[in-house]
Order: sequence, then structure tokens, then C-alpha cells
Amino acid sequence: MFGLGKTKRSVGLDVGSSSVKAVELKKKGEEYELINLGMEALGQDTVVDGAIMDSFSVANAIEKIFAEHKIKTKNVATAVSGHSVIVKRISVNAPSEGEVANAIPYEAQQYIPFDMADVNLSYQVLGPATGAPGFDVMLVAVKRDKILNHTNVLSQAGKVPTVVDIDAFAMQNSFEVSYAPAPDRMIALLNIGASIMNINIVRGGVPLFTRDVSVGGNQYTDTLQKELDLSFEDAEALKQGKQVANVQPDVKAAHIRSVSEILLLEVQKTFDFFRQTTTAENIQQIYVAGGTAKIEGLVDLLKEEFNIPVEIVNPFERIEVNPAKFDTSYIADIAPRMTVAVGLALRSFDTP
Ligand SMILES: Nc1ncnc2c1ncn2[C@@H]1O[C@H](COP(=O)(O)OP(=O)(O)OP(=O)(O)O)[C@@H](O)[C@H]1O
Ligand SMILES: [Mg+2]
Repeated sequence: MFGLGKTKRSVGLDVGSSSVKAVELKKKGEEYELINLGMEALGQDTVVDGAIMDSFSVANAIEKIFAEHKIKTKNVATAVSGHSVIVKRISVNAPSEGEVANAIPYEAQQYIPFDMADVNLSYQVLGPATGAPGFDVMLVAVKRDKILNHTNVLSQAGKVPTVVDIDAFAMQNSFEVSYAPAPDRMIALLNIGASIMNINIVRGGVPLFTRDVSVGGNQYTDTLQKELDLSFEDAEALKQGKQVANVQPDVKAAHIRSVSEILLLEVQKTFDFFRQTTTAENIQQIYVAGGTAKIEGLVDLLKEEFNIPVEIVNPFERIEVNPAKFDTSYIADIAPRMTVAVGLALRSFDTP
């Protein structure tokens, strides 16, 4: 009524395999404020490799978060990741940028291993193609049933999905708002969750190379569980730094390190492939998001391996968090896990 349009609220909802996370933000001018934040754990086989297997449990978790935190906003931005999400840089032969759209469906089918009738395509023009006529384009193809798998569950929980992004881009969005990196700086973003690691190499706001790898926190838990004959719960607690039974710290550290090395190898392979196929320039810095960013020694291992600065992402870097309303040490503790949800909430301010 009276200038109410100036303040807007938005909700980012991240359905991960270990938990559902929701963040509600308010935007006033160029300032953001945290309004609500909630997280609800999911059972082990509820979400597998980014696919919702048990929609009832996920819908329940979403409803519980909204009720508990009194989130009134019904429109939500969400994201998908894992298999059946394909992000690829391609060259499109089109005489002008305006005609890229027409050429996309035809060009895309050469790169997408699915029936074109089953996928949703979107793209971003990166610039004129290097060494050929036409344009370089970042193509994103997601299987339609994957999108429906997510949006149906949201509807089941009474929410209206307004944006369906991918985890890797949501993380990038959050990172850019938090850190405003210099336009020429080449940065690798890693979002290491429970079952998937999203890798996104970015420069100047453009995703240069993106890949989802099936590794994450579950691998650490599995290893500790098997090697030390523990329950899932004990292995999780041990992994997160709690003392369990009489497990020796050095024994635990050795198992954790062995899994970190597998993860490192995947990062290394991705960086090598990026250098061979995209540009020989060096990646200058790594930012890590996701719950597994906090694995003991992982940041140091990454530093040693790649010899560049490595930092854990704080998605609340540029967002006001009122200490009278939130336990700031809790927020700091879970911050890396909220990166995708924050990126999604930020994104939906841009959509009408
Ligand atoms: N303090 C900690 N130390 C080590 N690992 C942790 C810590 N806190 C959480 N984790 C691990 O982080 C993972 C959860 O992270 P996150 O919430 O980012 O994943 P997710 O989004 O649910 O999963 P995915 O994106 O892979 O589907 C779990 O494997 C959990 O055990
Ligand atoms: Mg996740």
C-alpha cells in the first residue's frame, strides 16, 4: 500500500541428502537481513544422489521447518544437483546473440545424452566464440522428471516453487554476494555435502566449468563405521569431533585422511581436465562450502596439495544476522551448510 514494495522477503529451500535447509531473507535497498533459518535432518535413504526417493518425508520436513520458524512466505526458490543435471560450455554457430536461442535446441542435442523431449534447457551467453564464428554459451540441461520430482514435493508441502536452480550456481551466487571477488580472479568453489560434491570454477561472475561428483561426507562416515565397527550415529559423531568409545585420535585421523585423499583426487582430476579443455590459466583460490568443509584437516590438505589459499565460505558475510534473534555461534557453526539455501534466497530477489 504505502511503499511496501521496497522491502521484500524470499525463501531459499535446499533439499540435500542429509537435511532440508530453509533460509528466509529480507532485502531493503542493497541490504540483506536474515529473517528465519531452519534445518531438518532426513533419514538415510530419503534423498539419494539428489533424487527424492521418499517424498512424504521430505514434504513433512519442509512443513515442519516452516511451522517451527513461522515462515509465512510461500514462494520458494529451490535447486537440483547430481546425475541428470548437465552443465556444458559449448560454441553455438549463430550470426547474432539474438539468434542463439533459435540455434540452442539443435546444437544442444549433440551434447546431451538424453532425449531432448525429456529435458529442460537453459543457457547463458558467455561471449563471442574463441577461434570460430558464433558464441560461447553455458548450456544447462536438467531432466524434466528431476525438476518435477522436486517441485511436486514442494507443492505437496504447500509451497510454490518459483525458481529451480542448480546447487553449483546457487553456491556461486551466495559466494559472489559475500565476497565480491575481483573480476579477473579465477576461483574454484567446492560444495561438499553428504553425498555430492559440486565443483564450480568461476571468474568474473561466469561459471567456466562445473561438475558434480558423487563423493561427500557419507564416505567418511561409512569408512569409520566399517573400519572401527561403529553404528552410523557413532561414526557421524566421531567424524564431527566428538569422543566415541575409546577410539584413538590418531586412528580416527588416519581413516579420515584416507577419505580426504580420495576427495582430493577428484578435485585434482577436475582441475586437470579444466586446464586441458578450457584455459591453461591457474586457479588462484579455493572456497569450500557444505557440511563436509569442516572435516578435520581437509582445508589444510587442499592448501598443501594446490598451494593456493583455501577458505571456508561464510554465506552470511554480507547479511545482517541480528544477535538478539539468532544464536550467532550456532549460525557460524552451520554457515557453510547454508550456502546453497542462502544463494537461492538471494537469487529469488532477482525474479519478479
Ligand atoms: N562439524 C562437522 N565435521 C565434519 N562433517 C560434518 C560436520 N557437520 C556436518 N558434517 C557433514 O556434512 C554433511 C552434510 O552437509 P550438507 O548439509 O552440506 O549436505 P547435504 O546438502 O544434506 O547433502 P548433498 O548436498 O550431498 O545432498 C554430512 O555428511 C555431515 O556428516
Ligand atoms: Mg547440499
